[in-house]
Amino acid sequence: MKTNFTNMKLQIIGLGNVGRSLVDLINKEEKSLDCLGLDLKVVSISDKNGTAIDEDGLDLKTILHHKKRNWSDFSHYHHSYTGLEAIKSVKSDVVVELTPSTNNGEPGLSHIKSAFSERKNVVTANKGPLVASYDELIDLKKKNNVKFLYEATVSAQLPIFCLINSCFIIDQVERIEGIFNATTNFIIGEVESGKTFKTALDYAISAGWAETNYSDDVDGIDSARKLVILSNTIYNSHSRLGDVKIEGIRNIEQIVEEAKKREMKVKLMCTLTNLEKGVQMKVSPKMIPLDDPFATINEGNMGIRYHFKNSQEIFVSAQFNNPIQTAYAVLNDIIKMDQ
Ligand SMILES: NC(=O)c1ccc[n+]([C@@H]2O[C@H](COP(=O)([O-])OP(=O)(O)OC[C@H]3O[C@@H](n4cnc5c(N)ncnc54)[C@H](OP(=O)(O)O)[C@@H]3O)[C@@H](O)[C@H]2O)c1
Repeated sequence: MKTNFTNMKLQIIGLGNVGRSLVDLINKEEKSLDCLGLDLKVVSISDKNGTAIDEDGLDLKTILHHKKRNWSDFSHYHHSYTGLEAIKSVKSDVVVELTPSTNNGEPGLSHIKSAFSERKNVVTANKGPLVASYDELIDLKKKNNVKFLYEATVSAQLPIFCLINSCFIIDQVERIEGIFNATTNFIIGEVESGKTFKTALDYAISAGWAETNYSDDVDGIDSARKLVILSNTIYNSHSRLGDVKIEGIRNIEQIVEEAKKREMKVKLMCTLTNLEKGVQMKVSPKMIPLDDPFATINEGNMGIRYHFKNSQEIFVSAQFNNPIQTAYAVLNDIIKMDQ
């Protein structure tokens, strides 16, 4: 669908790390957006407890101040007015869904389905809905003739779908290898520098790299979710999380010790291979030779290598140390809604 917005009305659902960074970024990039001829107005912002609404556009310069003060005395904030209600009742062109990723996809799944039913376009960084209900969402998107972009779901600002869709339109991706989880990459690096897994994990939590609920990361589930999104998007494979062979990093110390003897590095690698009998998806720790570019992906960084049928291999890496990078990927998708 070709859309052209000079005035684009946005609704943001979720004002956590990424939502706040997005608000900061829209403020910071006001002039660049002007140069693109794009007048973005954020008409509603919802968090867990309610929704701030101004159909003429919320003042983004003060919104984070009000959020910090729990919206006290902010007349545009309506307590208990949910994101779902806002999607149904506030006029907008694009819903930006930034609530937490969950196994059943909720609450993001209902937000996205409702936005599509209202014929609103959607941008999201939330993996949950895409892993839980990819086929249903794509059907609904087509039925309602709207756009749905989710570049940030797979490793934040690492260019994946945008690269395949714009640089390799007539070639085919046969295989993808990647380091898609910054937290585990950080922890493995700490174990390589001599820490035990437990100490490295505690350090990663205290340094803000891992959450206290770290199991999705260290057990390889987060990486597996990203593989499912990639596989469904690139190969329309109807893949589910249970189709991924997963091994996490809880036993990483022995592998690191063995790799050191062989002068190799260890990475939690994701692989997606398109075979005649179907796709194959795997997440597991692997020893990597020092001259392989993946060996240079250190700390919380991420990387991807595409093996194309005809073109050469392409390797891309991105530093990741801040949700502002995720917000950049989200803003990029928002801008693409105008194309
Ligand atoms: N952090 C990153 O850099 C990054 C990278 C790639 C993808 N992602 C994905 O992006 C999404 C957002 O991540 P984040 O780090 O910003 O998460 P976060 O800090 O936990 O923030 C989540 C936000 O969602 C709000 N929320 C929760 N339930 C809601 C509901 N039912 N209705 C409306 N709002 C609700 C929360 O409200 P309260 O403020 O009231 O608690 C909070 O503002 C997640 O799905 C994550 O997996 C994040």
